Amino acid sequence: MSEPICIGVLGLGNVGAGVLEVLDRNADVLTQRTGKRLVVKTVLVHDLHKKRSVSLGSATLTVNAEDILNDPDIRIVVEVMGGEQPAYDYICAALRAGKYVVTANKEVVSKHKKTFFELARKHHTDIYFEASVGGGIPIIRSLKVGYAANQVKAFYGILNGTTNYILTQISEKNQSFEVALKTAQELGFAEADPTMDVSGLDTAYKLSILAAVALKSEVQVSDISYEGIEKVTLHDIRHAREMGYAIKLLAIGQQTGRGGISLRVHPTMIPLSHPLAHVRNELNALFMVGDMVGEAMLLGRGAGSLPTGSAVVSDIVDIVFDMAYEEPKRTQRNLEPHYEGAVLVDAGTVASQFYIRLWVADAPGTLAKLAAILGEWDISISKMMQQSVKNEVAELIIVTHSVLEKKMRQALSQIETLPEVKDIASLLHVGLDEGGL
Ligand code: HSE
Repeated sequence: MSEPICIGVLGLGNVGAGVLEVLDRNADVLTQRTGKRLVVKTVLVHDLHKKRSVSLGSATLTVNAEDILNDPDIRIVVEVMGGEQPAYDYICAALRAGKYVVTANKEVVSKHKKTFFELARKHHTDIYFEASVGGGIPIIRSLKVGYAANQVKAFYGILNGTTNYILTQISEKNQSFEVALKTAQELGFAEADPTMDVSGLDTAYKLSILAAVALKSEVQVSDISYEGIEKVTLHDIRHAREMGYAIKLLAIGQQTGRGGISLRVHPTMIPLSHPLAHVRNELNALFMVGDMVGEAMLLGRGAGSLPTGSAVVSDIVDIVFDMAYEEPKRTQRNLEPHYEGAVLVDAGTVASQFYIRLWVADAPGTLAKLAAILGEWDISISKMMQQSVKNEVAELIIVTHSVLEKKMRQALSQIETLPEVKDIASLLHVGLDEGGL
């Protein structure tokens, strides 16, 4: 047997423990597949004396990152600490030392991918980040390699297990938001600060990574319009079901023609006839449309210790294959974003159907006034229902035909000023406007 491949692991939380467990439980299979023994030599932790449930094998624990970053025996550094710092510094140091890096950290990859790709190229090494999007589902590898013969026209992802779990539990069990969130935290897939999940930021980080992989575009989250699930109520979920839709938090990436791309994150009403509507609980999925392959969908566990560990170890296996080449540039050849290339189009210029729920005075003339404003903005109504009346206030649901978001918002700001309108309770996108339906 040839020399083992030594690995250093930065962080031993939920994901770090998963990586060690996958390497340990499938050690023989991994050796058979790679022809090498994959050995974790050193693990960076906060507390040397904490009791660990995972088997450490021959690994040494340290509180000093230099023990990994400066160790010439360690060829692969696995960063599973999460957060921007010190992960960013450690990844840069590892790449500068010519080590391969595997990370599960969407925030650091989303923010610094350009620097990482440049450093990796300069130091003849590479960075892999399969686990940063969609946990155990090989989304990045599929886009990079499996669909390499395609131009991706559009993709629609359910990329956050916590929010998908919450929406599913509310919809199927009438559970409250708080109870569902607490369970997601207990199950170990919510972020340390769950506002990142709920606000859509976690999904937006993942979307910016997919924009690099699928659309070859360098985009920062600060330029992406994102909205979370804070405003989605049990009411909306019920109405959506009655009308034949499920509400999901979607990450959407689309080619808009003439070099433009559209990236956005928002709750979307998806027809129950679409496979994405049936992605339940903490499962993640990516539905994509390639110009050659057509529609395709990837589905699986998007979070959790072992699924995420599985993705990290798959990157390690890829690297071991890569080590046989003189120039490790398989990832870069497939990934390198066209920095000046795509132009991100304003979210307001994208057309969609909309669902509006509002409370209005139950009096003659109310509907006529509403309809007149929609008409002025060229907005056509597809469906309308009056749901209930309380104290002479009626709950109205309107679903529009496709309209630019900008126009929809302008019409609503005018509608809001009508004395008959008591509250605009919800505005949701309906359907996937490109392909797939
Ligand atoms: N908090 C994330 C989720 C974990 O709920 O999907 C994986 O990134």
